[in-house]
Amino acid sequence: MKFTSTFATAIVLSAMLASAAPVRRQTPTLSSSFTTGAIYFLSNEPSGNNIITATIGSNGMLTVSNVVATIGNGDHGLTGGELGPDPLFSQGVISVSPMAGLLATANPGSNSISLFSIDPTDPSTLTAVGPPIASGGEFPVSVAFNSDGTALCTLNGGAMDGVQCYNVNATSGLSVMAGTRRFLNMGQTTPPSGPFGTASQIVWSQDQTQVYAAVKGNPGSGPAGYIAAWNMTDSGLSDQFVNVTLPAGAGAPFSLTPIPGQNAMFSADAAIGVDVFDFANGPESVAASPRTQSYNISGSMAPCWSAYSPMTGDYYVSDLLTSILTEVSLDANNNLRPSMVMQYPILQNVATLDLEVATVGSQDFLYLLMPNVTAVEVLQLNGPGNATSIQQMDIAGPAASLSLPVNPNFLVGMASYVKPQTRA
Ligand SMILES: *[C@@H]1O[C@H](CO)[C@@H](O)[C@H](O)[C@H]1NC(C)=O
Ligand SMILES: *[C@@H]1O[C@H](CO)[C@@H](O)[C@H](O)[C@H]1NC(C)=O
Ligand SMILES: *[C@@H]1O[C@H](CO)[C@@H](O)[C@H](O)[C@H]1NC(C)=O
Ligand SMILES: *[C@@H]1O[C@H](CO)[C@@H](O)[C@H](O)[C@H]1NC(C)=O
Ligand SMILES: *[C@@H]1O[C@H](CO)[C@@H](O)[C@H](O)[C@H]1NC(C)=O
Ligand SMILES: *[C@@H]1O[C@H](CO)[C@@H](O)[C@H](O)[C@H]1NC(C)=O
Repeated sequence: MKFTSTFATAIVLSAMLASAAPVRRQTPTLSSSFTTGAIYFLSNEPSGNNIITATIGSNGMLTVSNVVATIGNGDHGLTGGELGPDPLFSQGVISVSPMAGLLATANPGSNSISLFSIDPTDPSTLTAVGPPIASGGEFPVSVAFNSDGTALCTLNGGAMDGVQCYNVNATSGLSVMAGTRRFLNMGQTTPPSGPFGTASQIVWSQDQTQVYAAVKGNPGSGPAGYIAAWNMTDSGLSDQFVNVTLPAGAGAPFSLTPIPGQNAMFSADAAIGVDVFDFANGPESVAASPRTQSYNISGSMAPCWSAYSPMTGDYYVSDLLTSILTEVSLDANNNLRPSMVMQYPILQNVATLDLEVATVGSQDFLYLLMPNVTAVEVLQLNGPGNATSIQQMDIAGPAASLSLPVNPNFLVGMASYVKPQTRA
């Protein structure tokens, strides 16, 4: 089955983009560019969740392309006040396996996971693989493929919380992997109240033998944050998880970004800035490792999402409230000590959420969701400390032309796929 409706031609589209502009610069036409890949994010609407896709040109710039129904619903967590942006309090609601050419995403409002195949010749085109499958809990907020795309795990953050993993078949879809339903017993509601005290992100360890889930603490009150670490074996996940406690200063790990060449994770921590977790000697030894540490991003208010650039070797952290992007490097002397390289103020009050780095040829580009202006910021990463803004891609105009409801408070997620022939 295929649930795709294609937007108008590029010429009509660029005319629309030029007329609908809450952003500071017009979107250039892409006539001199060819498609090298695509990005993906969610409308996350409670009335029906849609994946919005945009092509990546050879110059890194985006053009909105398709809207693909997930056959599930979006949802929004509770914050004790009016709804704002950041609906899921999580990172990784969309996961892409470049090796398998597959995309998976969660439907928080219908407790299900949807799987799609990515057309390698036109990566903005997605085709559903099998029907959505139950997430094994409530309010799924994060999904993660293993390295070859043969398995997927999801993290549920509602009243029925925890982890569930699946075998992935590119023809028939997802099937529950035996022995992988594991609870966190966080005592949340559906939808959960956050952002503190909620489920954050699920990832596989670099060697694929463990699965980690980050949980935010409630600084000042309530339970402490932690990383839950399970063994993954042929018989499934270990019955118990190791409670990886946080380093001094840390409080609310929001993301888990693998540190290349290390058995370690980089985390944006909403309570302080950045955490590093060193898993080199196993989950039991993370807390005792001197390489496990927190780092204060001075002036940050809600540093929540993180991404790594292979080209600059640095990490990028987005902040929901300051809309400042922070570039962080880890000490080359192998102690993984974070330090700030540069800060990039995006637009004021745009609310910056999920971000993704895509490598096109030998050039890295960073894609940053800005829900309050319904746009995606595109930065070219020229080198360490040198990111330059090259585009703001409008979402609202193209969506309106298709009668697709998009709400700044619900938009979420960011993932990418680069065509095999244009990868580094
Ligand atoms: C995937 O599913 C198809 C259709 O059900 C089946 O023929 C095939 O054997 C499956 N592949 C694997 C690796 O299980
Ligand atoms: C995970 O596996 C390791 C190595 O077999 C073992 O020492 C450890 O106890 C296991 N942890 C859990 C939580 O089962
Ligand atoms: C993890 O350990 C910390 C520190 O001992 C504790 O406060 C917290 O309650 C534990 N969390 C879980 C889920 O076991
Ligand atoms: C981070 O640094 C700022 C300024 O130096 C300070 O005001 C703040 O309390 C620090 N935050 C934490 C969590 O240590
Ligand atoms: C985004 O818009 C909401 C209104 O929906 C507002 O409450 C919030 O302050 C804005 N975020 C930022 C960072 O300005
Ligand atoms: C940043 O990169 C651009 C493009 O390569 C280059 O023109 C510029 O000189 C660089 N700026 C700095 C400060 O290195």
